[in-house]
Amino acid sequence: MKFLLLISVFNLLVKATPITPIKQQIYINFELIKSDIGLFYIENLNLGTPKQILNKVEIDTGSSDFILANDDYNPSKSSSVHNTFEIFTTSYGSISPFQFYKIYDTLSFKNFEIENYPVGFAQNVSSDYFGNFNGILGLGTGLLEAMEPSYSNFPRQLKESGLIDYILFSIYAPVSGNNTILFGGINSDVFHGPLIKIPINFAIGQTSSFKKYNWSGITINGIKIGDTVVSNENSYFEIDTGATTFVPPDNIARNILQLLIDESKGDYLFQDNSDGGYYYFRRELVGDLWITFNVQGYILKFQIDDLLLNETAGDSINQNGNTYCILDMMLGYQLGLNTNVQTIPNHVLKYSYIVWDYEQFALYFADLIDLNDKPDTKSIVEIRDNQWPISTTTAPDATNTYTSFYWASNDVSISGKYSLTVAGEENATSEPITTTTSSSSIATGGCYAIPT
Ligand SMILES: *[C@@H]1O[C@H](CO)[C@@H](O)[C@H](O)[C@H]1NC(C)=O
Ligand SMILES: *[C@@H]1O[C@H](CO)[C@@H](O)[C@H](O)[C@H]1NC(C)=O
Ligand SMILES: *[C@@H]1O[C@H](CO)[C@@H](O)[C@H](O)[C@H]1NC(C)=O
Ligand SMILES: *[C@@H]1O[C@H](CO)[C@@H](O)[C@H](O)[C@H]1NC(C)=O
Ligand SMILES: *[C@@H]1O[C@H](CO)[C@@H](O)[C@H](O)[C@H]1NC(C)=O
Repeated sequence: MKFLLLISVFNLLVKATPITPIKQQIYINFELIKSDIGLFYIENLNLGTPKQILNKVEIDTGSSDFILANDDYNPSKSSSVHNTFEIFTTSYGSISPFQFYKIYDTLSFKNFEIENYPVGFAQNVSSDYFGNFNGILGLGTGLLEAMEPSYSNFPRQLKESGLIDYILFSIYAPVSGNNTILFGGINSDVFHGPLIKIPINFAIGQTSSFKKYNWSGITINGIKIGDTVVSNENSYFEIDTGATTFVPPDNIARNILQLLIDESKGDYLFQDNSDGGYYYFRRELVGDLWITFNVQGYILKFQIDDLLLNETAGDSINQNGNTYCILDMMLGYQLGLNTNVQTIPNHVLKYSYIVWDYEQFALYFADLIDLNDKPDTKSIVEIRDNQWPISTTTAPDATNTYTSFYWASNDVSISGKYSLTVAGEENATSEPITTTTSSSSIATGGCYAIPT
């Protein structure tokens, strides 16, 4: 299970750093590689002088800093490094807290160079701590920055450097695997119809008079499994390229299990282990069911099958002629500030082309076309201002946004043939919650873990 989302939240001033473009160009295109566990990374970024090659840098819309483990980079070998000796602590959904230095060094790629780029150097952490990624390139908004004071992270730095004209990136990640992330532009030949604009909405706190927070989530107006409604209340989700785990509010996770599982038919197995045990579900239950999210009229989706963990990783059991798998879904996870921010995993990118626009604070969606090939660079449309040379449309249900805190008690409750009770179940999302959640509440090792 992978679940990368920054938990620590700090935010103060904005500070720009000097940048030197090598060559003027108006979009930056990276090949995205998908790891065995389904997370995306880029290769061959360089840091320092002379250049040290950074391998396996994960892209993560659920966090905002560029954090580097110690494997590929040695600051003492760089003449351009500046260590502030400031130490920050952070953690991610599936990574326990760790410390890092805030340093500045020259970040470069084939066609650009950015001097004094702010990097979190986790000196005492190696790449296995980050799930074998050497670094995490956070592409989220400022609220999620762990380094203080607030600064321009990667997408914004590209604009300040003149390398792109508009703070936007688009991800093309079809199953064929010719995946790319394009900053400052849109691939016009990889989607059907106009791009549908969905505003980035505020997260709403449960306490402090329901304060609004500039998170990068969107409004979900309802969720279905197949034709069955498992949520009809407005909720708030972030699309996290750094997650393969689906994290809905507790009661929605329970509705899904109630729908899928008939306890009397041996639909699941429990395996005890040192983490408290895991539930394995019969593979046939999910069939080719889709989970669909109504995003203000646009239907975002993935297959439940996408949540079954890779069997070669030892996450399945064969017994009585059945294959049992772990479903990569977690009970609602509080991301801090008592906000009820939930996570849609990166599987949606197999079916939708998605654009993150941090100038107008919106996401754009369209159904994906898998070219079975790399998108032609001739089809790249450069975005220079708010007048896009590409067809866009407002959401069908544009005014139906998330405006009040999600309460489980107002949503659908499905009762089924599954009797397992979950700790803290009743009124689960309104339990007293702390400002940040420790990683101990996260399932580790296996995947769908129901606390026992
Ligand atoms: C790494 O560990 C050393 C020795 O314990 C310590 O001095 C240093 O501050 C640590 N670095 C970070 C970034 O926490
Ligand atoms: C917060 O979000 C709004 C749009 O939703 C945007 O106009 C504003 O600039 C954002 N503020 C910060 C500090 O990012
Ligand atoms: C499962 O993981 C192995 C390596 O760990 C990989 O080769 C294989 O393609 C994966 N299978 C699926 C269905 O993702
Ligand atoms: C990419 O596209 C080519 C065709 O150009 C195809 O042969 C290849 O299998 C695709 N997938 C990957 C991962 O490159
Ligand atoms: C349970 O949820 C309701 C909202 O439906 C809320 O008013 C109430 O305070 C919650 N109870 C607790 C104990 O948090």
